[in-house]
Amino acid sequence: MTATQAPHPSANPTPDPAPAAVSDNAILAISARAAQLRSQGLDVVDLAAGEPDTATARFITEAAAHAALHGDHHYSSAAGDPALRAAVAAQLPTAASPTSEPLTAAPFTADPFTAEDVQITLGTKHALSLALGAVLRPGEDVLLARPGWPGHTGAVLAAAGRPVHVPVSAANGFLPTAADLEAARTPGTRAVVLASPANPSGAVLSGQDWAAIATWATTHDVWVICDDVYAQLVYDTDDVGDVQGPARAVHLLHVAPGARQRCIIVGGVSKAYAMTGWRVGWLAGPPQVIAAARRHISRTITHVPNITQAAALAALTAGATAERATNGSADEVGDVMDATDAVGQAVNGYRRGRDLLVAALDALPGISCPTPAGGMFVFPDVTAAMGRGGWSSTVQMAADLLEQTGVAVVPGEAFDAPGHLRMCFAVSPAALATAVERLVTVLTPQSSGAAAPAQSGSVDGAATGAGVSVAVNVDEGGAP
Ligand SMILES: Cc1ncc(COP(=O)(O)O)c(C=O)c1O
Repeated sequence: MTATQAPHPSANPTPDPAPAAVSDNAILAISARAAQLRSQGLDVVDLAAGEPDTATARFITEAAAHAALHGDHHYSSAAGDPALRAAVAAQLPTAASPTSEPLTAAPFTADPFTAEDVQITLGTKHALSLALGAVLRPGEDVLLARPGWPGHTGAVLAAAGRPVHVPVSAANGFLPTAADLEAARTPGTRAVVLASPANPSGAVLSGQDWAAIATWATTHDVWVICDDVYAQLVYDTDDVGDVQGPARAVHLLHVAPGARQRCIIVGGVSKAYAMTGWRVGWLAGPPQVIAAARRHISRTITHVPNITQAAALAALTAGATAERATNGSADEVGDVMDATDAVGQAVNGYRRGRDLLVAALDALPGISCPTPAGGMFVFPDVTAAMGRGGWSSTVQMAADLLEQTGVAVVPGEAFDAPGHLRMCFAVSPAALATAVERLVTVLTPQSSGAAAPAQSGSVDGAATGAGVSVAVNVDEGGAP
């Protein structure tokens, strides 16, 4: 449902349970089928997952083990470990890089974030619903880019808000401009959620984009919820915002520090530190927002577990040499990596993966693959390849690719972007090379292995695509 179709909450106070025919079921269906094929002994390469395929670095795991073995077993503060909150605050947007052209006009003048501005949560998704819960009255509208990550829709619904989808174009990396937001704004609009880098496109907002959005938000008294979960995963130096600390995408607060009082930052360790299962995130914002989130945590989960907070603290404050697994198995610990630059090393690897995947896909007839500036996904337009192969949807195409090649990718329908496929490049070089080889073989028209979906059989002998049926309906969760 778009803003133009949406009745105002005063006319319909019930949060819309089906804001768009979009769902993460498509992601879950592909992942479930991939797991099934794997359990049958088939060599499946998973580019569908929304997470790095490495195990968490050993120095992080050891910090958790140390906390567990040394008696960190008791209730602690609802706010979260003060040391972790301080470490989070230290890596939030600070000063604008003087070398980044859009940023020169507005030096960062707001006070730096402190531990007091930070609340620890059970991952970024939890932070999103807490942030929205802090600022929304039931039924108020929240603008979300569509196509976009369905988890944002789920978070709005969890906070009893009403998602209003902002149509965004591939030409703009599926990110909204201030004009797009204004076109979608309703009288009940209270907040906008923006992820930069984005999921699924990996696009980042420029300093100019952010500046215009800040002006628009101030004019219309709208909260800006910045989903920074991919902020450290940026690959092109032009997109780098901070002077100190690890590189990060240009941020709203770099260009518009005055927007601090209407900005809530959510983030977490999931993506940058390969810690999706540890469930540690945070939100940072004005005192009334932090107080509301803290009250909710205190009334519900009491606090985030001490052990996982210890792991997150090690990740954010690492200062020693550590080892990191090179593949998906936690048992197999491989190359030595400098813990002081764990994210930098991961970013270098992901950049190589991105470049390999983009080059291979973009060279295929019927596929156009933009280079994402950040995040961990490519999101090529495969419309022409789909037509040539006889696939009626990318749901069907993704199902066939899995059955025929053992490569799992996510159909664009999962993000309300038919004609696209999402592929994760945060996987081991070996896995990516295998996936590329198989995809090129099956998607090259003259290849004998070229897909013919209507007739093809599946790897386990079942009818093509039979293993993956996708019900596209209400999203309530938002898988990665
Ligand atoms: C844009 C975006 N925000 C948040 C999340 C969830 O992050 P977390 O695992 O920290 O809850 C994801 C996961 O895919 C995401 O893509």
